[in-house]
Amino acid sequence: MEVKLYEAMGGLTVRLGRIAVSGKGGCGKSVVTALLAKAFRKRGLKVLVVDADESNRGLYWMLGFKQLPTPLMELAGGRQGLKRKMSPKTFLVATGKSPVNILDRDVVSLSELSPPYLVEDDGLKLLLIGKINRFSEGCACPMGFLSREFLGKLRLKDDEVVLVDTEAGLEHFGRGVEANVDSMVIVTEPSLESIRITEEMSRLAAEAGIKNIYVVLNKVPSENVALKLMEDLGNRGVNVAGFIRYDPEIFEACLEGKPIHGEKAEEDVEALVEKMGVKH
Ligand SMILES: Nc1ncnc2c1ncn2[C@@H]1O[C@H](COP(=O)(O)OP(=O)(O)OP(=O)(O)O)[C@@H](O)[C@H]1O
Ligand SMILES: [Mg+2]
Repeated sequence: MEVKLYEAMGGLTVRLGRIAVSGKGGCGKSVVTALLAKAFRKRGLKVLVVDADESNRGLYWMLGFKQLPTPLMELAGGRQGLKRKMSPKTFLVATGKSPVNILDRDVVSLSELSPPYLVEDDGLKLLLIGKINRFSEGCACPMGFLSREFLGKLRLKDDEVVLVDTEAGLEHFGRGVEANVDSMVIVTEPSLESIRITEEMSRLAAEAGIKNIYVVLNKVPSENVALKLMEDLGNRGVNVAGFIRYDPEIFEACLEGKPIHGEKAEEDVEALVEKMGVKH
């Protein structure tokens, strides 16, 4: 199968690279991350998913894994260790058999990442930045720092993509994580609040210099509603790349903690991924 990550779109070459998935709380970021990961794998791409949400814990089972990997935060010396190390270039990531200081190096490749800081199955890898675990342990800024630095070191081959499932809202923009992403998927559910935050995110993503911005409507009740919302958003200067219908199979999988599966939603994601320039 030939994998094509580049597409001539309006004379521009599109490279997805490191893709941040963002949006309002509960709009479907993690579900869309899992669906995109699945669609990319189907096309033969190697996929690293970075769980950069310090609160929610369900992404691993959505992707079909049995457990979370050890957080990268632990390898970086935990919260205290990372705080001490935030200015000098001294945090660690697993590379090969033994931990190596990646900030002493300019680049890290996907193939160098290894367990326990990674769970892996057939070309799909999941890495976790860190979670808030204890009362009053402090803010999530060190995790934002770690996400940004880690993404900054990653160098991808043409058949590799990274999907970053971010925490809800705008904070990751404030932390500058977007300095080191190439593309952004902004997930929007059919609510005014979500549409408003999408407008804000589109502006911030452009400000961060992200060239490939894909606004995706999720949980839409019908194609007609999707088309109407696309038109409305278009009139407000936001181009919508595609939509994913509300799918009861997805709802059920989320309720039962099962791997993400849904025929309707997956059909829509196929069309979206084609539009993003990933061809069979
Ligand atoms: N296409 C869909 N069809 C049906 N239900 C969906 C769909 N997408 C998401 N959902 C529902 O929305 C819920 C929230 O989805 P998800 O956890 O992906 O949101 P999120 O944006 O990652 O949330 P958070 O901001 O808390 O991380 C799911 O538990 C599921 O019930
Ligand atoms: Mg989530």
